[in-house]
Parts: sequence; structure tokens; C-alpha cells
Amino acid sequence: MSHQVMHCVLLISLTLWQTFIVSGKIIDLSHKHGPTTFMVPGFNHYKRSNVTVTNRGNVRIEAGDYSSAEHGGTHLDAPVHFSENGVALDDLPIENTIADGVMIDVADEASRNIEYKVPLSKVQEWERKNGDIPQEAAVIFNFGWHKRFHDKKLYVNTESNDWKDLKFPSVSEEVGMYLYEKRNIKIIGTDTMSPDPPNSGNPIHVRYLPNNKLIVENLNATDLLPPKNFRFHAAPVRYVGASGAQVRAYAIIYETQRSGSNAIYLKWSLVLISAFIRVF
Ligand SMILES: *[C@@H]1O[C@H](CO)[C@@H](O)[C@H](O)[C@H]1NC(C)=O
Ligand SMILES: *[C@@H]1O[C@H](CO)[C@@H](O)[C@H](O)[C@H]1NC(C)=O
Repeated sequence: MSHQVMHCVLLISLTLWQTFIVSGKIIDLSHKHGPTTFMVPGFNHYKRSNVTVTNRGNVRIEAGDYSSAEHGGTHLDAPVHFSENGVALDDLPIENTIADGVMIDVADEASRNIEYKVPLSKVQEWERKNGDIPQEAAVIFNFGWHKRFHDKKLYVNTESNDWKDLKFPSVSEEVGMYLYEKRNIKIIGTDTMSPDPPNSGNPIHVRYLPNNKLIVENLNATDLLPPKNFRFHAAPVRYVGASGAQVRAYAIIYETQRSGSNAIYLKWSLVLISAFIRVF
């Protein structure tokens, strides 16, 4: 390759470089999943059993088995959860579990009313401030409820095992349908046990899951998310036939390069050095 061609290649790569810098902070949106983690009535806790430890020479090897209800802890609902012919986790396309995220903060409202249902006006208010929710987004609602997850009474308002007694804030059917029809979102996520109101007909589950839109429940730390500019991830294991599973949900915050960032100084220094070498 001639000297000049190499220079062209170098200058072009340096110019494109900023596109490829992924310098984002990571926010863990998952609760630990253990034997005492809150489960809805009738669902089995996580259990680790048959743990064996073998020593081979100086090497210690530990291995065990585990079981858990699919729909407990920070988890994803697969389409088959609400649709007989829906996709199970093993056939779920990975790209359905990754999306540009937006966070709608309704913690204040929920703290004042445990049966708060996010109204359409709240989403419209968010859009007036931040622009339209992008197509194929993950829309995450922060109710502030993840801070109550350690205590069943605080989380679902009852110690009883009767589903009829459960109370927590949720997303109105109107908002669910707006996000589905007008914004074509991929994922709806909440830091409560369900986006649908307790003891409702689960309108969001019924519309979303059979149409391959996913639901992520019992998220943690949703208050740490910015209103937009992050990527949401919630990929489960490809368990065969499974209707859901725990996920390690997390967000990567996008960083737009500021003119003072080190990366930009480094880049323009290299462009200058490269141009300088070219002169000689
Ligand atoms: C939820 O996230 C917070 C902040 O990262 C962490 O301190 C806490 O342990 C998490 N809760 C659980 C149950 O894992
Ligand atoms: C326990 O695990 C070992 C292998 O680690 C396996 O051979 C054995 O069948 C397991 N026992 C039970 C009861 O699952």
C-alpha cells in the first residue's frame, strides 16, 4: 500500500472513530435471586441443591443444581406465558430483549397512592419534555417500588397469600395501548410485580405477549436511569419451552462526547500528528 493510501485510511478511521466509542456507564437493574426472594402466592422459591465439592489436586470445584419459579424476581415474560402458540424462551430472538430505553418516573405519584395507575397525561408530559418515545423502545416505569422489594407487605401491601389482596401501583390500559399502537415499543418494564393493575384482566399482558412484545418485572434500581439515552438489556437463558425466566437486566448509558472529553483530545491530537507526518 502506498504511503498516501495508508494516510487516507488513517484519517478516515480517525474521523469515524467517535462513532465507535462506547463509553457508557452500566446500571444493574436486577435484584439478587435467593431462597427468600419475594414470590407471588403459589410460586416456588429459588432452591440450590445437590451441591458437590470435589478436590482434584489443589483445585476446588463446586457445582450444584437449582430450581425456581419462572415468574419471580427480576424476570422476563415470554410470549407463550399468555398465548398457547407463542414463542418460548428457546426461540425468542435475542434482539427482542435489547432496546433503546426511556424511563418514566412516577415514584412521587405512587408514594402518595398505592393504587396509582399511570395515566396517558403522564406519558404525554414526558414526551413534551423529551420528544416522542422512539419506535421499538423499552419503556421502563420507575414507581420507586424496588426499594420495597425486600418486604412483601411493603411490596404488595399484604402478608396474605390471596391474590385478591395484592395492591401495588401500575400502568393504565390506556398507556399500555398507546405505547403499543402509537409507539410500537418492544418492551415494557416496571419495578413492580406487573405493569397490569392487580386483579385486572391483565390487558397489557394480553395485548403484548401474543404479539412478541416483552414484559420485564420486578426491576431494581430504576431510579438510577436517566429519562432517555440508554440501552436496556434483559436476555434470559434459552430454557426449552420456558414461559419466562430470571434475567440480569441492565442498562448502558449512552454518552454523547463532550468537547472536553479525553477521547476527543486524543482523537484530534492523532489527526494533527497524522496530518503533520503527511506533510513530510
Ligand atoms: C438493588 O440494587 C441496589 C443498588 O444497586 C443494591 O444495593 C441492592 O442490593 C439491590 N437489591 C437486591 C435485592 O439485590
Ligand atoms: C447430584 O449431582 C451429581 C453430579 O454432580 C449427579 O451424578 C447426581 O445424580 C446428582 N444427584 C441428584 C440427586 O440429583
